[in-house]
Amino acid sequence: MNTVSRVGVVGLGTIGAQELALWQRAGLQPIGYDISEARVRSLGGAANLTTRIQDLEPADALILCLPNLAPSGENSMAAFDHFVEAAQSLSPKDRLVVVASTVPIGFTRNLAARLGSHGRVVSHAPERFDPGRGTDLGEIPRVVGALSAEALDLTISLYAKAKVPTHPVELVEVAEASKLLENSFRLVNISFINEFAELCRRLGIVAADVIDAAATKPFAFMAHQPGVGAGGTCIPTMPRYLLEAAKESGIEMPILQDAVSGNAQVVKRVADHLRELLSASGIKRAKVLVVGATYKPNYPDARASAALAFARGLAAHHDVVVYDPIVDTTAFHEDLPLVRELPRDRHFDAVVIAVKHKDTDVAALRQLSPILMDLVRGAVEATESISSRKR
Ligand SMILES: NC(=O)c1ccc[n+]([C@@H]2O[C@H](COP(=O)([O-])OP(=O)(O)OC[C@H]3O[C@@H](n4cnc5c(N)ncnc54)[C@H](O)[C@@H]3O)[C@@H](O)[C@H]2O)c1
Repeated sequence: MNTVSRVGVVGLGTIGAQELALWQRAGLQPIGYDISEARVRSLGGAANLTTRIQDLEPADALILCLPNLAPSGENSMAAFDHFVEAAQSLSPKDRLVVVASTVPIGFTRNLAARLGSHGRVVSHAPERFDPGRGTDLGEIPRVVGALSAEALDLTISLYAKAKVPTHPVELVEVAEASKLLENSFRLVNISFINEFAELCRRLGIVAADVIDAAATKPFAFMAHQPGVGAGGTCIPTMPRYLLEAAKESGIEMPILQDAVSGNAQVVKRVADHLRELLSASGIKRAKVLVVGATYKPNYPDARASAALAFARGLAAHHDVVVYDPIVDTTAFHEDLPLVRELPRDRHFDAVVIAVKHKDTDVAALRQLSPILMDLVRGAVEATESISSRKR
């Protein structure tokens, strides 16, 4: 193979849709393939979208943007098994296969072997897109590892066509591990900052003020924002692939293990703190407004949202209303009452800011209740609490 002139994108979810747009802008007439009719329909009437794998025939590169989680949220590479099988119905011409998904270490090499004649030219260029950040895919450099010099060169020149900078690494396993390191690094830091934020809330100081102060150090500190725990389909789950690799290597990674389990406990620890604040006011069953339902700020996706898990847990004991003006309700399979507008005329026993979108009006929220837990600032304001002391 000398060059790639037509790209096929396999899996058209959050990432596949981004890749599709990238290659459209680069003029490579991408063909998008997904097994879900609904997904293909939801992407609108764009040409070259299909649920038939045979329609990928004209593509000379396939970018795999397949999920690595089961619908239940467990880690699972089953979508790749399905793809390996389906790919056998394509003609065995040489195609570059680029694995863009986050995958376990060793997965790409194994996938190439399983693809047989379709797996001769294979690379891994893990996707680093951060939904809601506003950074275009083309502005984020890609680490590229490959199983041959040919695959590496082809992948680098392919991404150059879309003006995406690349960082080649010698072994494909280095590329796989780099992506898992990025996700794990983030989770360890988020878990720690949430632990720290709880301490600040208990001490009656504002975590955000401490973080801002620490961030004036010009080196060796990276500010992280607290919240209700890392949600979404990447950060809480991808580190499990590193833990599996550690287990297979006969070692333990207690810091990462604690970060994974600590992240899952944030929701309960915040609920415990809230219960203490409420019982200090003599309230057992409270009216609670949870602010934010998405898995991250300024982005409507509520899949695997820690804020929703928090609201759901709270609703077993309290009357909970969720306020989120931007959440996408197609994924909102909840019995929880959801309001789009700030309920200014209602009174709550507590307001908990779980996710702070850019227009969140904290001053207005403060008027709705005597207790305001702002998890994003790492602050609690409560009439009965130590944090209400004025200096
Ligand atoms: N979402 C993110 O923010 C993000 C960021 C960086 C990396 N990633 C990685 O990118 C990959 C894709 O993530 P996503 O968020 O786009 O997932 P997603 O769940 O939004 O989309 C996956 C898509 O693949 C389709 N699909 C499933 N099995 C298929 C098959 N056998 N053949 C064709 N299509 C199939 C699904 O119908 C769905 O449309 C994952 O590995 C993820 O870790 C995601």
